[in-house]
Amino acid sequence: MKKLIAPSILSADFTRLGEEVRAIKEAGADWIHVDVMDGHFVPNISIGLPIVEALRKADTLPMDIHLQIENPDEFAERFIDAGGDAVHGITVQYETCGLLYSTISRIKSRGVSAGIAISPTTPLYVLEEVLEYADMILIMTVEPGFPGQKFIQSMVPKVMRLRELIDRSEHKPLIEVDGGIKLDNIRVIAEAGADVIVSGSGIFQSSGYSETIELMRKEIKGL
Ligand code: DX5
Ligand code: ZN
Repeated sequence: MKKLIAPSILSADFTRLGEEVRAIKEAGADWIHVDVMDGHFVPNISIGLPIVEALRKADTLPMDIHLQIENPDEFAERFIDAGGDAVHGITVQYETCGLLYSTISRIKSRGVSAGIAISPTTPLYVLEEVLEYADMILIMTVEPGFPGQKFIQSMVPKVMRLRELIDRSEHKPLIEVDGGIKLDNIRVIAEAGADVIVSGSGIFQSSGYSETIELMRKEIKGL
């Protein structure tokens, strides 16, 4: 499968959000990663429902919505409503879900992809019983909360172990990797087995989006 590049809109210039979304689409990105933060699960507040509604009207790429909020059950469907047809999927943080099977089922029943994210210190084994229900597993390679953080190198073997686990399993959710990924380390992540690569500051703070995405694709060519 072709590896997907999902720029995180959190690092875009919010005074020109519509233009930024168009530019990233023209630059050849695959999805738009939307980081929703509530000031409770993570010490930051970011994008909410009105922005997702606006993005939908802005001729966006499919939205890959990453909920970093304490009560995903209360909000997952509201984000699906806000983003409408433009929502590719909703990813919830494992650490916030007491009733994960229900959370995942509810998201899937709305016809969108359901993802489970784990923070850097959450072990892979917690996924053992839920792997078969998830459409995507997101490995956080920084502590959730802020863009522009340094990639945690020890997450590379974690991604490799997840790749092995999924390759051995009948059910094959995508692997997404998020946090601190730039042109200089995208290859190592792709080699470890990522299918979807999120990059925020690595793309939005580069001088040319098309150029950066093209160079990123060159880095991961053939993988
Ligand atoms: C962190 C978010 C990431 C982040 C990515 O909580 O989930 O998506 O914004 O930004 P960079 O690529 O700058 O680390
Ligand atoms: Zn994210």
